[in-house]
Amino acid sequence: MSAVVLVGAQWGDEGKGKITDFLAEKANCVVRYQGGSNAGHTVEVSQEKFMLHLIPSGILYPETLCVIGNGVVVDMGKLIEEIDGLQKRGIDTSNLRISLRSPVVMPYHKRIDELEDRHTGIGTTKRGIGPAYADKINRIGFRMGDILTGGKCFRERFKAQIEYKNRIMEEIYQEDGFDYQQMLEEIFGQAEQLKKYLADTSYLVYTAIKEGKKVLFEGAQGTLLDIDHGTYPYVTSSHPIAGGACVGTGIGPTNISKVLGVAKAYTTRVGEGPFPTELNDFQGEILRDKGQEYGTTTGRPRRCGWLDTVILRYAVRINGLTDLAITKLDVLDSFPTIKICVAYRYKGQLLTEFPNNITILDDCEPEYIELPGWQEDITAASSMEDLPVNARAYVAKIEELTGVKAAIIAVGPKRKQTIVNSLLFT
Ligand code: GDP
Ligand code: IMO
Ligand code: MG
Repeated sequence: MSAVVLVGAQWGDEGKGKITDFLAEKANCVVRYQGGSNAGHTVEVSQEKFMLHLIPSGILYPETLCVIGNGVVVDMGKLIEEIDGLQKRGIDTSNLRISLRSPVVMPYHKRIDELEDRHTGIGTTKRGIGPAYADKINRIGFRMGDILTGGKCFRERFKAQIEYKNRIMEEIYQEDGFDYQQMLEEIFGQAEQLKKYLADTSYLVYTAIKEGKKVLFEGAQGTLLDIDHGTYPYVTSSHPIAGGACVGTGIGPTNISKVLGVAKAYTTRVGEGPFPTELNDFQGEILRDKGQEYGTTTGRPRRCGWLDTVILRYAVRINGLTDLAITKLDVLDSFPTIKICVAYRYKGQLLTEFPNNITILDDCEPEYIELPGWQEDITAASSMEDLPVNARAYVAKIEELTGVKAAIIAVGPKRKQTIVNSLLFT
């Protein structure tokens, strides 16, 4: 049995797309289990760059089955755009499957997300994610399968929902509402286009695992954006953590063999919320410039800071990480010295565990150790031996502080710029 869950170990944008694409060469099946088009996963192959939002990052391999699981909220319009975009670039998408149980992101979810974010100040991606998950939990959402089936019962529920949403629009926001007939036609048209991809994906994934195929679960966002275990309320509305892979695909925990945490060699975050190691100086600028730290989905500049191993140890615990993938090590190339946060100082107390609430986190000062940099270009390194001694020492220190081995190290955005220390698929 070989099923690996890949999760973001920080606040998202760790390079999950790149690592998924790299591992997908060996995988038979790549499965997204949560999030929606708020995700932006970049894959670079030769001179080509792909930005994936809903489609799993295994799509560049025509033999790899790519599954959008039931835990993903699907914006049908965005998904159709993404499929068309890939097809225009010669990518075969016939290997894509979408769960009949996936909740649909409706146009009203996106509008409400925009309006609510003005009040909450979370700084969402405005992709309708929070409102779509809220409706799912509130049992007033619609699934792909509902729309495909259509029928009287669906139409009645949908009409009632539009009426309800229109009251919110008109009475709370003093805005025009939505037209039921127009939206109905739009979603029926979109479902018709996506019909050929819809399937009972839990069965497909389960069968693949049982047949001994190699299955990779591709998390979106990251551990600290998890609705329960992240920096609430500055989080997303799903479960990016490894446990989310079971709920979001319909397979049991006994089917999972390994959990790979993807972590940048430093830390970034988009949107609001506390960030203890954030650098608001020229060093943060260097990380942003060299790492090209601008959002894949929204284009917003990402906040940058030193690596925080309090966060990584928390990610090890919450996800049960068995391995690490350390990405963007090359971005640290020019620094004469590099800091790693090993604990927090909170009101004179030393904290080694990640705090349970953001008020405490907001008052935490990082305790750093300082390591010598390597000041050498490492983007051509293809093995650990190719790395300068100080770069190896930096990786070894992360392993020591987290208690987890680095199975993969990325030294550039391209598929080839990847060092493998141990094989994930057995
Ligand atoms: P994801 O959301 O976790 O898939 O990450 P994003 O794609 O949003 O952001 C990661 C960015 O870093 C992308 O532009 C990648 O092409 C790039 N990237 C990934 N790994 C590396 C690396 O090792 N070095 C450098 N320089 N860039 C990388
Ligand atoms: P990938 O998969 C980084 C952040 C948003 C905001 C918060 C809530 O590319 O790593 P949402 O639209 O989800 O309700 O926004 O979560 N966020 C991400 N940050 N990477 C992502 O995805 C993110 N998806 C959402 O910036 O702070
Ligand atoms: Mg991203």
